[in-house]
Amino acid sequence: MIKGIIFDLDGVLVSTDELHYQAWKKLAMDLGIMGFTKEDNARQKGVSRMDSLEIVLEKGNKRYSDEEKLTFADQKNNFYIELLQRLTDDAVLAGVKETLIMLRKKGLLIGIGSVSKNTPLILEKTGLKSYIDQISCGLDISKSKPDPEVFLVAAKKLGLLPVQCLVIEDSKAGIIAAKAANMRSLGVGPEYEQLGADYKYKNLQCEIDWDSILNS
Ligand code: G6P
Ligand code: MG
Repeated sequence: MIKGIIFDLDGVLVSTDELHYQAWKKLAMDLGIMGFTKEDNARQKGVSRMDSLEIVLEKGNKRYSDEEKLTFADQKNNFYIELLQRLTDDAVLAGVKETLIMLRKKGLLIGIGSVSKNTPLILEKTGLKSYIDQISCGLDISKSKPDPEVFLVAAKKLGLLPVQCLVIEDSKAGIIAAKAANMRSLGVGPEYEQLGADYKYKNLQCEIDWDSILNS
């Protein structure tokens, strides 16, 4: 029996992909890397900031020290935070608020499991904070998805066992992490059919058979 739902943030509750893309693209251009595309950006889904940076740097032909890489990641994050200042509840994806309200009415606990260190800012800006019981994010963990840490921390904060949690994700790394945490998973987003999730729905606006999922 499922007692808590752990939502990934980017691409599940909120549309931030374009903002991540713009910030990484600007960094790439500043470094003289011209070939960074939206397809490369799609590979950054669910991937930590430093690992995402590697996806940008592999499009160039220079090697950088760890210190330089930290500076680049900070630069990207500064652009990204500038873009996040303009975020409003318009960025909340279709069906999200209705789903959160409905699940809470059913007595479920709601958690966030995101590797983004900007999770608190994004929840604040989009007005989603009041719908969430517990947040587990990049600030709470040392290992990124596909490691299960972010979901295990979320379950612990919710006071639940992993088997009592369902993870909702839009990335492959996230579904692998959910399985490694011994949690069931529901995949959404453009690649929902290929994620390997237990339940597959294009988005949270779909007619989801919640009763059978929650009682399974
Ligand atoms: C999410 C996004 C990734 C991003 C990661 C770290 O998982 O899907 O694209 O790289 O968070 O985000 P941050 O805001 O901490 O740079
Ligand atoms: Mg995501």
